[in-house]
Amino acid sequence: MSLEKKLLLELAGKYGTPLFVYDGDMIVQRYKDLYNYIKWPQLKIHYAMKANYNFNLLKMLNEAGASLDTVSPAEVLLALKAGFPKDRIIYTANNMTAAEVDEVVKHGVLMNIGSLSELERFGKKYSGSRICLRFNPDVVDGEAAGLMTAGDLSKFGILLKDIEKAKAIVQKYNLTVIGLHEHTGSGLQHTESVFKSMKNVMALATPANFPDLEFLDFGGGFKVPYKPDETRVDYVAMGAEITRLFAEFCKSYGRDLKMYFEPGKFIVAEAGYLLVEVNTLKDNNSRLIAGCNSGFPQLIRPVFYGAYHEVLNLSNPDGAPKVYDVCGNICETGDRFAEQRELPKIREGDILAIRNAGAYCYAMGGVYNLRPMPAEVLIYKGQAKTARRKLSNAELVNSIIGESE
Ligand code: LLP
Repeated sequence: MSLEKKLLLELAGKYGTPLFVYDGDMIVQRYKDLYNYIKWPQLKIHYAMKANYNFNLLKMLNEAGASLDTVSPAEVLLALKAGFPKDRIIYTANNMTAAEVDEVVKHGVLMNIGSLSELERFGKKYSGSRICLRFNPDVVDGEAAGLMTAGDLSKFGILLKDIEKAKAIVQKYNLTVIGLHEHTGSGLQHTESVFKSMKNVMALATPANFPDLEFLDFGGGFKVPYKPDETRVDYVAMGAEITRLFAEFCKSYGRDLKMYFEPGKFIVAEAGYLLVEVNTLKDNNSRLIAGCNSGFPQLIRPVFYGAYHEVLNLSNPDGAPKVYDVCGNICETGDRFAEQRELPKIREGDILAIRNAGAYCYAMGGVYNLRPMPAEVLIYKGQAKTARRKLSNAELVNSIIGESE
């Protein structure tokens, strides 16, 4: 565990709950670790900011030298405001409107285009541009069905077999393809999938097809353990194989290209905690329910993907184990962070920590039932600071009223 339980309890006391806490040192370390695993001189890590777009966290990663994967004009705007130069940002949206494309092009950020129809529209308007092309690597993998982003069921990327069609559009509009991209899925279960997707895209990346390539981008999806007994991927071995494959490819391409990856979860998931307080206990015919002061709009992964998040009882770690449903405060039966989970005895007032809350938790949050999102605290270089405060109920209500005519 990256942050001490004692510190988390102190923060819960100081800032109140619910509260997101992020270990900034771990985040920066994870970013740097990738350079130790994948030893390619021209490696660029584009943090997938959709995983956690906290502004202070972005500024911290910018200082560490990271690049970014962005998916909407507002993400690009936020990235620029956090100080990321435009040449360290790549834009990989899908089903883009013309207005969105215009906005991103205006910022000078590189477009990664993943459908023939979008490519045609882009070429017509911005002929002569430099672009990246996203292919569907035709490898199906991911933590859950909804997290597999390749194969026939996926809306993403140009099919490998449509390469000639893509080339024809590129030629028609005098576009320069400087990069090829693929993203297989999130939480890839098999390292073999990473290699297979790489190979499928590298097979297209010949000098005859794309003579102007500067980089290949192999997306994100690096898995981290969520369950206590889950094994950690051997990233040293995986990185060595990635480097070997890429070196072999560059040799056949005729020169060394840059290699990009776009991890989100790997960098931030394990560095985050959602701290909640249990305020109501119930014995439902021996099903014990621990009701707490947060709910699925603040951490939706268990409800949305059936994802497992480890729960710790911070304030009674040595209590006798009992089995609980850990429920939220939302008016829906399915509002559970954990189901039938053995935990040290929970008392009203106990503070629980929900682990791996750094990726796709606050970022996927909302205010359903009208409770403001919790504050976020970032701990970095020995200092804790509020990275985003919680709105008051009055501010939340005013923001709603303010939006009406
Ligand atoms: N690159 C592209 C083009 C992506 O679509 C994604 C994630 C990533 C990189 C980063 O993937 P990561 O390394 O974080 O696995 N909300 C889901 C995850 C959705 C991921 C969508 N795309 C979850 O909570 O598991």
